[in-house]
Amino acid sequence: MRHLIDPLDLSVQEIDKLLDLADDIAGNPKRYSQVCSGKKLATLFYEPSTRTRLSFESAMLNMGGSVLGFSSANSSSAAKGESVADTIRAVSCYADICAIRHPKEGAPLRASQYSKIPVINAGDGGHQHPTQTLTDLMTIRVKKHRLDHLTIGLCGDLKFGRTVHSLITALSRYEGVRFVLISPEELRVPDYIIDNVLKAKNIPFEEVENIEDVISQLDILYMTRVQKERFFNEEDYIRLKDSYILTMDKMQNAKPDMAVLHPLPRVNEIALEVDDDPRAAYFDQVQNGVYVRMALMMTLLEVEHA
Ligand code: NCD
Repeated sequence: MRHLIDPLDLSVQEIDKLLDLADDIAGNPKRYSQVCSGKKLATLFYEPSTRTRLSFESAMLNMGGSVLGFSSANSSSAAKGESVADTIRAVSCYADICAIRHPKEGAPLRASQYSKIPVINAGDGGHQHPTQTLTDLMTIRVKKHRLDHLTIGLCGDLKFGRTVHSLITALSRYEGVRFVLISPEELRVPDYIIDNVLKAKNIPFEEVENIEDVISQLDILYMTRVQKERFFNEEDYIRLKDSYILTMDKMQNAKPDMAVLHPLPRVNEIALEVDDDPRAAYFDQVQNGVYVRMALMMTLLEVEHA
């Protein structure tokens, strides 16, 4: 049985195959409308979510399956003190696959150790978010027709932003990738990613504070929200929350074919005026998120292709 806990749980070949499947689903959705009929997805969300939970549910419904679950810790037995290990043992009796989001780093991994069904990490604390990464990879491939030989700028909260950690980890396996890490000093990429991924694999990267200095080099600009819920004090959050705001003025200096990505939700990081620029790809990501989650659940459930 396979789980998806960390972006490296899928090989580069498996990701290629999965993205090919997602492309085919996007082009021929009707062909997949019953491939999961009789299958049940459980969504166990101990933290707020709009896109991730609803796109998992929409993905399963698109394939003729059904969904059950909870959308906050308060409405589950976690509020009574139940452990993740016990919860997953119960959920294994109710569903065929599950997606779990939890504020504690490592909770989905722990769940997978007690589970009888495939477990998908839908975000664990400030750690990883591998299905957002599949969404990001699909969007990059659609926009740039490749995942290698790209200069990728990541901007904002690179410390607590789990989507950033997963995307760097996944992209580190492609040739010719270079990262420009744009953040305030306090929100730099954690050392474990710098040391175990970037330095360990000799991947070129630079860390800068000013987006204007580097925007012209970028093929992809990945904007992120400052992760309010992971701050220890409100003062720091208020000081850092508006560190970067992408405006049309700044976009003037970017390449005409740069793509702007954002996992969403957006707070202030991207001015609304940028939404109408053809380089804005963040709403495409939302749609692609459904296709990759369909492809992922088909793969983990070993459902025959249509
Ligand atoms: C992200 C998350 O939950 O990590 N959202 C998402 O899943 N698309 C990003 C965020 O909350 O800022």
